[in-house]
Amino acid sequence: MSNPINHLQRKPSYLPFFLLPLLTLFHPTRGEVGTSAQYAPPFLPTACYGYDPGQFPSSNLFAAVGDGIWDNGAACGRQYLVKCISAAEPGTCVPDLVIQVRIVDFVLTAVSPPSYDGTTMVLSDTAFGTIANSTASSINIEFQQI
Ligand SMILES: *[C@@H]1O[C@H](CO)[C@@H](O)[C@H](O)[C@H]1NC(C)=O
Repeated sequence: MSNPINHLQRKPSYLPFFLLPLLTLFHPTRGEVGTSAQYAPPFLPTACYGYDPGQFPSSNLFAAVGDGIWDNGAACGRQYLVKCISAAEPGTCVPDLVIQVRIVDFVLTAVSPPSYDGTTMVLSDTAFGTIANSTASSINIEFQQI
């Protein structure tokens, strides 16, 4: 350690090993990464609750899920935290805004088509427009069941 240059060069190699667990620990959502499209009314009937108008949260933050999450209908009523992380067009995401959505439908049988096919989760137009520029057709998301 008598040579100060050696000391400085060694520092960056161990620094990330200290920081990585801390960043992971304090990350707001430790979820999975996927994609989202949006869909607009009409929303009824849904695969989960048919014509029941009480199925939508008053926030209008809800979603239909694709094959990967649908789980043969077990996904109905689950709550997810969703955050927009990136999109094809820079500046599309509202940075660091996390919303909570309720699952009410299955994308493949939903009455209204998604703005983009094959996504993980199709957000209501209200939900999508809360975390991203509503003119986008798809975004990359981080999501976590709660
Ligand atoms: C949303 O995206 C459109 C198309 O890229 C752009 O013209 C508009 O300025 C954006 N709106 C906001 C609020 O960033």
